[in-house]
Parts: sequence; C-alpha cells; structure tokens
Amino acid sequence: MAYIELEDVTKRFGVVTAVDRLNLSIEQGECVAMLGPSGCGKTTTLRMFAGFEDLDGGEIRVGKRIISSKKTHYYLPPEDRNFGMVFQAFAVWPHLTVYENVAFPLQIRKLPKAEVQARAEEALKHTNLFHVRDSSPEDLSGGGKQRVALARALAIRPDVMLLDEPLSSLDPHFREEMRFEIKDLQRRFNHSILYVTHDQSEAMALSDRILVMRLGVVQQVGTPLEIYGAPANRFVFEFIGLSSFLQVALRDGRMEVGGASYAPPLPPPAELVVQGGAWLAARPNEIAFTAEGGVRATVLRKAFLGEVMDYRVAVGDAEVRVQTSRRDPGPAVGEACGLVFERPRWYPLAE
Ligand SMILES: Nc1ncnc2c1ncn2[C@@H]1O[C@H](COP(=O)(O)OP(=O)(O)OP(=O)(O)O)[C@@H](O)[C@H]1O
Ligand SMILES: [Mg+2]
Repeated sequence: MAYIELEDVTKRFGVVTAVDRLNLSIEQGECVAMLGPSGCGKTTTLRMFAGFEDLDGGEIRVGKRIISSKKTHYYLPPEDRNFGMVFQAFAVWPHLTVYENVAFPLQIRKLPKAEVQARAEEALKHTNLFHVRDSSPEDLSGGGKQRVALARALAIRPDVMLLDEPLSSLDPHFREEMRFEIKDLQRRFNHSILYVTHDQSEAMALSDRILVMRLGVVQQVGTPLEIYGAPANRFVFEFIGLSSFLQVALRDGRMEVGGASYAPPLPPPAELVVQGGAWLAARPNEIAFTAEGGVRATVLRKAFLGEVMDYRVAVGDAEVRVQTSRRDPGPAVGEACGLVFERPRWYPLAE
C-alpha cells in the first residue's frame, strides 16, 4: 500500500462538483504535481488534504491512518496532521524577524526552547536564510519571502508537504532557481509532496508524477514522460506542450483533410475508423516539410525564434504549427508544401 491514499475523494459546492471521485496514491518521498486550468479543483483537493474542508465522498489515508473520511465523519484537525504548507501569497508575518517567522509554529507546538532553536536554525540553513535570520521578511525579495514560508514548513519536520502555486508570484528567473531548491530539499528530507501548479514546465521539472485535472475530474496520472509522450486524451495533449489538431475523415483506409485524400501516416485505432473521423494530433517538432507528397499545405506565417523556425501552415481551413531547426531553409511564406506527420496521435472527434 502506498504511503498516501486518496480514495474517491469528492467535494461539491452547490451544483459545482469541484472534485469528482479523485483517486491517487503517493509513495513516501514522491512528488506528485497537480496540473490543470483555473477552477479545475486543485486548491480544493489540497484544502481537503490539509483538513480545511470536509469531504462529500471518499477517504484520505496517510501512513495507514485515516485522516479524513466521509463514511465515518472522521476528520483529524489540520494542526494534528503534521503537514507543511506553502501557498501562493507570501504568507509571512511582517512584524516578526525571519527567525521568528520560522520558530513561531514550533513555539505554538510547545516544543522545548532548545529544540525550537535547533529546528529553526536547521531550516534556515537549508533554505539559505541563516545570514538574514534577524532581518524583517519585508526586506527580502519575493523569492526570499517564499523561502521563509518554505523554511517555516520544513521546520515542523512534516510528514507531507502541500504546496499550492508557491512560485507563481515570483519572476521567471527566481521561479526556476526555486524549483531546484525545492527539488533538493525533497531529496534531502524524503518528503512526500503534493504540488499544485498550472505551469506545465514547473510540473515537468519538479515532479515524479503528474496528475492532470479538468473540471474536477482526473484526466491522467503518469510520469512527465508518459504525460508528454502518450497523452490519454485531446485535453491532456493540448494542455502539455505545443499542439496542433487536424480534423480528418477516415474512409476506406484513407484519411481526408483539406479536400484531399491520403494514406494515414500511421493507422488510426479501429474504433475511430468505425466512427468515420478523428482528430489527428501532433507536436510542432514532430511535423516535417516535404517538397513532394505529404498532406498539402500553404505557409501562412514564418517566425525565427532563435533555435527554431516557427511556421503557421494552412491545411484546408485548419491551421497547423510546425517547428524546424533554424538551419533548415524550409518553405517561404505563401509557398505550397507537403507535411509529414512523424508521430501522429489520434483522438475521438467527441473530445
Ligand atoms: N468556497 C467555495 N465556495 C463555492 N465554490 C467554490 C469554493 N471553493 C472553490 N469553489 C469552486 O470549485 C471549483 C474548483 O476551485 P479550485 O479553487 O479548487 O480551483 P483551482 O484548480 O485551484 O483553480 P486556480 O488555478 O484558479 O487556483 C471552482 O469552480 C470554484 O469556483
Ligand atoms: Mg487554486
């Protein structure tokens, strides 16, 4: 059994089902990122996990212990869960020093004075804040303030870390830096982490597994590679990385698009052939130009993006994005060309 189990966890707000029968296991020391658009239920899941919300269905267990259960109406109070939490807003107390911010939750827990000092100093060292321990957090940058919040969470020696968009208010440079720091701390302390973000590159960089959510419903759980390479549906494909979709008709072993008929680049699944049509999905770097053959297209726009050349190409009335190495000459704007789909994925038209 995994260290953490969320089983059929459900939360409703009036007619909105914010989280719908969510199932997830997290191992000791594993970092799972929850990824999805605004309003998909990420924060609600975290709040249920932390004990700030009760459940309308299901159960949450940590280390064989039930901490929330709809069935038995049992809820372990948040302060007894021993979870470290960091949220998006810089939740530091401005009238306390950096040291006092980190020590305060330990004092609340009535730990002996020497223990408070030892733990607070350890957390400050691990987050590179020891030298500013007597400063006001107000004198620190956004990244510094968020580090204080992180140190405060670490100091309680939590069983689980719950992070809700902790880096989204930082500028991009600090954001990348802090990703590495969080990853290092996770390795050092072997925490289980549930990390909420709507930034896909952050999820990719930080997590062992990613959970993609939409309107309260889990779409896919997998390693970053699985999520990127084999998206379970059109929504996941579109949410992770750049994407293009072509609506194609499937007839007599051929695909029809833009008024012409082609042999499909890879045979589509039989159930989609039966339906007579599908979405053909591809990443921009998985489409190549060919002078002859291929799906006929016309170049609409072309932009130099440094390492890559970025094309918008018309296929019938659809638009496809293609990226090639900047060293390839490639077709010019207005030129007719052929497209080769090197790694097509197929999804039902209903998605
Ligand atoms: N206290 C509440 N009362 C009523 N509806 C709520 C409440 N909290 C959340 N919701 C609704 O539940 C759904 C999920 O909200 P949630 O805050 O969990 O989304 P999220 O994925 O964290 O979004 P974001 O990326 O914007 O933070 C939304 O439709 C939201 O409006
Ligand atoms: Mg949220």
